Amino acid sequence: MAYIIPQSLILIFALFSLFTSPSHSADPDPLQDFCIADLKAPISVNGFPCKPSSNVTSDDFFFDGLIKEGDTNNLFKSSVTQGNVLAFPGLNTLGISMNRVDLAPGGLNPPHTHPRATESGIVVRGKLLVGLITTANVFYSKILTAGEMFVVPRGLMHFQLNVGEEKALIFTAFNSHLPGAVVASLNLFGSKPSVPDDVLTKAFQVDKSVVDLIKSKFGG
Ligand SMILES: *[C@@H]1O[C@H](CO)[C@@H](O)[C@H](O)[C@H]1NC(C)=O
Repeated sequence: MAYIIPQSLILIFALFSLFTSPSHSADPDPLQDFCIADLKAPISVNGFPCKPSSNVTSDDFFFDGLIKEGDTNNLFKSSVTQGNVLAFPGLNTLGISMNRVDLAPGGLNPPHTHPRATESGIVVRGKLLVGLITTANVFYSKILTAGEMFVVPRGLMHFQLNVGEEKALIFTAFNSHLPGAVVASLNLFGSKPSVPDDVLTKAFQVDKSVVDLIKSKFGG
């Protein structure tokens, strides 16, 4: 007996498989309730091994590392305090994490990308220019104040600049327990060993003296 499957049903199945396919989540789904990271485990896996359940305590599910204001006395006048799996092992395998970003007046969280996560953020204090640049080199930005949110699609270059008179504070959330951060200036001009001048003079169409000057700022 042959059944004719209505097209609408096929569409529903297609959509369902789209939304449940792993390509839609940044980190893979966990295989157990929790897996408190054993950061000192001698073996290395895609993530961290779980410490034995018998060793797990309440403290493993709480983290106070984002309470303190970060030190903004640096080149960028900003500070990112990370609440990822390395700081908060309870996040291991759960596919989420958070950061705290403090910016002094004029401070910049410099252009960077997170290779493994989409980011959403909320401004808690201050006034910031939040911007992102797409793979088509289109720049989107807006000035945000307390209570306003932003989103940065996974992997796109973005920044936050404190354009107010006061300190600014943002909390950001990621769909990865270890989103990673590639800060453009540090990555290209501060790497160890350093990227050959010949690459950077050609990439940025400037003289070696300019490349060396920028490298000197970032220890490259
Ligand atoms: C688990 O607890 C035991 C006993 O306190 C300790 O010796 C061991 O190192 C702990 N293991 C881990 C992975 O935390």
